Amino acid sequence: MAGKRVLVTGAAGFIGSHTVDRLVADGHHVLGVDDLSTGTQENLSGILEESRFNFEKQDVSAPGAVASIVERYHPDTIIHLAALVSVPRGETEPGLNYRLNVQATHEVCEAARRHQVPRIVFASSAAVYGECAELPLAESAPTIPVSQYGYAKRISEQLLEGYRASYGIETVCFRYFNVYGPRQDPASPYSGVVSIFSDRFRVGQPVTIYGDGTQSRDFVYVGDVAMANALAATSETPIYGTFNCCTGESTSLLDLIAVLDRRFPGAPKPEHHPERAGDIKHSLGDPTAIQSALKFAPATPFAEGLGTLLAD
Ligand code: NAD
Ligand code: UD1
Repeated sequence: MAGKRVLVTGAAGFIGSHTVDRLVADGHHVLGVDDLSTGTQENLSGILEESRFNFEKQDVSAPGAVASIVERYHPDTIIHLAALVSVPRGETEPGLNYRLNVQATHEVCEAARRHQVPRIVFASSAAVYGECAELPLAESAPTIPVSQYGYAKRISEQLLEGYRASYGIETVCFRYFNVYGPRQDPASPYSGVVSIFSDRFRVGQPVTIYGDGTQSRDFVYVGDVAMANALAATSETPIYGTFNCCTGESTSLLDLIAVLDRRFPGAPKPEHHPERAGDIKHSLGDPTAIQSALKFAPATPFAEGLGTLLAD
């Protein structure tokens, strides 16, 4: 099978850089695009010299920017990961949330329509479900987001569904649950909780728990998410639809702290702060649909993934 040509937005980010690594390792050609706002060139340091990888610094929300890249590069698939990733930042900066999490998706859809790109893989989020009483969440569960970020991801899913219905572009929306693993910047207060807590325990600083710590998440390892992205982007068989990207396993913040306490005995006690605006209490997905669509589902056990992160 000849390698595909894949355009990856947000390529210098946490999930983007692992996705690029996976695609190139599998023999595909990749153009990575990123404005380096939260991503770094360092995340791509292992791949910059690779002949099948190229990089362009570009703001994908700028009108016409993605279209002009697509016109030159002719990708078989666009994997659209660039976004404002932080739920709390979406609450305080709704305009930025709209530009990065809705307008940029429209730019990607238009680029695909105008230049006949047959497939788009999009990074949606479990945040589209909001607070749902019945867990685990199947894709058919109601989507009633509780954050600006969650609404923007849901609007983007609908935009993509519309481009599939009207123009026949195969659109795959992955609702990632909480992704963790190496290269998620722990220094930013907006980073993922696993990355922040692991780093704090390592350096002997107290962690901050927003709320009582009983909130729980379905933590999915980044290598598994990268594999799902690569499979969906390069599959020879037609694929479209909306799929949870999750493990089906629930871990609370208190569970996470208990594991880290065993690994770093004598760590300082956590500090408690009020719950964050836009926070969901419990989030747990059902991975059945992705399993049947891709013959693959994220399956790295949390203890194994956390071990890899701590050894990094
Ligand atoms: P990240 O911040 O590491 O990656 C996002 C990348 O997009 C960064 O490299 C950033 O520089 C780039 N970017 C942002 N705005 C841009 C713009 N206007 N133009 C070009 N590049 C831009 O975050 P991540 O965790 O790797 O997230 C990737 C995607 O996955 C996002 O769409 C996010 O919403 C989604 N997602 C992440 C998680 C998670 O747990 N990390 C869960 C669900 C969904
Ligand atoms: C995360 C992603 C979001 C994604 C969603 C999917 C990040 C930064 N955000 O949001 O892009 O769409 O999963 O489910 O990866 N917490 C603390 N202390 C901290 C940091 C966090 O107690 O220092 C708490 C938060 O209040 C929250 C939980 O940990 O209750 C998880 O927070 P976070 O890792 O930011 O993830 P989500 O908000 O779930």
